[in-house]
Amino acid sequence: ASPLLISPSILASDFSRLGEEVRAIETGGADWVHLDIMDGHFVPNITFGPPVVRALRPLTKAVFDVHLMITPADPFLAEFAEAGADLITVHAEAGPHLHRSLQTIRHLGKKAGVALNPSTPESAIAYVLDMIDLVLVMSVNPGFGGQTFIPESIDKVARVKAMIGDRPIHIEVDGGVAPDTAPALVKAGADVLVAGSSVFKGGSAAVAGNIRAIRDAV
Ligand code: DX5
Ligand code: ZN
Repeated sequence: ASPLLISPSILASDFSRLGEEVRAIETGGADWVHLDIMDGHFVPNITFGPPVVRALRPLTKAVFDVHLMITPADPFLAEFAEAGADLITVHAEAGPHLHRSLQTIRHLGKKAGVALNPSTPESAIAYVLDMIDLVLVMSVNPGFGGQTFIPESIDKVARVKAMIGDRPIHIEVDGGVAPDTAPALVKAGADVLVAGSSVFKGGSAAVAGNIRAIRDAV
């Protein structure tokens, strides 16, 4: 089995101390940093854009896992790539030309991911499997941290795992991931876990212990 990667979402961190929070993620033993980009249009919340990604980039060598919850996404892909994204994930629902968006991300030299909302069937990725590095299974409706985990996501992870076969594609899960929900997800085939509230509860001083609690649970 591939090693479990933890990608803490800075959405749950203290935005007045973002730089320190990103450092706390790295020293706390995380593998990736998950950056949630929301536009108030595709999702009912607004977060931050390329300037913030660019400002955080020099602070860590960790993989910048950029989750775009924006529509349209295509006009912004180059800017997120230049700002320091290593992996750019677009939602299957965000535009009519998923194939083109993935081509653009790969042409920019970045890894490409597709996110699936809870109501989106895994068949949405059937014809792009050879263009992606990651499938992001949303286990809450995107827009906010701290929501309740949707248990049907576990079966979806297993179905995505079966679809990808032996292709080198990560399966990432995002929403309500915590020590109680992580084990079933990993068993079903997830190898990247995004976690916001469960990593930042208790503040930066608790981050390392919270990450360890997820690893220990699986
Ligand atoms: C939700 C975001 C998530 C969010 C997860 O739209 O995509 O990354 O930060 O937060 P928790 O882990 O608190 O559910
Ligand atoms: Zn996310």
